[in-house]
Amino acid sequence: MATVDLSKLLKIYPNRKGDDVTAVNQIDLTIKDREFMVLVGPSGCGKSTTLRMIAGLEEVTDGEIKIDGHVINNVQPKDRNIAMVFQNYALYPHMSVFENMAFGLKLRKFKKDEIACRVQDAAEILGIEDLLQRKPFALSGGQRQRVAVGRAIVRKPKVFLFDEPLSNLDAKMRVSTRAEISKLHTRLASTMIYVTHDQVEAMTMGDRICVMNGGDIMQVDEPLTIYNNPANMFVASFIGSPPMNLVNGAIQSQDNTLYFQADNSPLRVKLSNQLVDVSTNHIDKPIVLGIRSEDIHDVRALSDYETEHTAELTIDVAEPMGNETFIYLSTGQQSLIGRVRSDARPATGEQIKVWLDLNKAHLFDPATEKNLAN
Ligand SMILES: Nc1ncnc2c1ncn2[C@@H]1O[C@H](COP(=O)(O)OP(=O)(O)OP(=O)(O)O)[C@@H](O)[C@H]1O
Ligand SMILES: [Mg+2]
Repeated sequence: MATVDLSKLLKIYPNRKGDDVTAVNQIDLTIKDREFMVLVGPSGCGKSTTLRMIAGLEEVTDGEIKIDGHVINNVQPKDRNIAMVFQNYALYPHMSVFENMAFGLKLRKFKKDEIACRVQDAAEILGIEDLLQRKPFALSGGQRQRVAVGRAIVRKPKVFLFDEPLSNLDAKMRVSTRAEISKLHTRLASTMIYVTHDQVEAMTMGDRICVMNGGDIMQVDEPLTIYNNPANMFVASFIGSPPMNLVNGAIQSQDNTLYFQADNSPLRVKLSNQLVDVSTNHIDKPIVLGIRSEDIHDVRALSDYETEHTAELTIDVAEPMGNETFIYLSTGQQSLIGRVRSDARPATGEQIKVWLDLNKAHLFDPATEKNLAN
């Protein structure tokens, strides 16, 4: 059993010039027993600082960290029963793989045969039994990464912490290692907290994702909930590739019907019922329409669609990808990216009629950046 509770967790790095850096801004987060929680966000948002405070490598400015209900703020790192895998793996170059994996257990005065047994088990799980006598310099990046994970596994910790463990691997290796870490999580059934700036890793690995920005938590939820119902414009544009289209405009009322009119643009669409429900207080005010690229369709590929949700726009650039084509649509000052079927061969410079699936769209208040549906 291992739950991790962060409450009002604060980290301020003092700066001699007086402009202190608030790296983590009083965050509240509960990681459930056996959960794979991913902390994701842009560089500098406070992910590593959060992880390092949980590990005890960084002092807490204020707030509490609890493991299984016990406050551990003042517990020594070595007594926290937590193992961390770092981005640079931090292997000892003069030690063999076996010695690297055994080192933490030796320090903790484990018996020799217990150490050998644990290292052997971990090596089997990771498929590195043949490498135990090698030194780190004679390993590939992927193998080093496994040794670093192995060193954590042998400790049988309550909580695993990973700080960007895949960022030194090439793209192909990252994909396969990603799947291995997910499998490992199922096999070990332990609580894991995983830091990355890569939203694809977050989406594919997390039981839940915690999106951070500027030391604050923007949203915590399951990957698909975050993807389909972003709480704010930051999450909408951070999760998903290409990012959600965010179009500035206003809600206008005409003959008892509400429309979204994009600024300086021919894009004007009738709001869907659920968008109408959330927009009562926003009529004639600035608004941001959020729509994912896959919810923009070439009408030539559809048999049925509502004409009130269509727009005739010019394709600035068409990028055929094979199964689909990315189209960059000009809507006045703003551009809109659609991912449409390639059948009708949408081409650069062409006028195209697109249907916007407004049942999947969102409205954001540009003042608060919040999703009106929240
Ligand atoms: N030792 C330090 N002294 C002063 N400021 C620091 C220190 N460590 C981190 N910071 C600042 O705290 C903020 C958060 O840093 P942190 O390393 O947690 O970010 P991160 O989300 O892990 O980013 P990255 O994706 O680049 O690793 C940043 O603004 C960073 O410059
Ligand atoms: Mg970091």
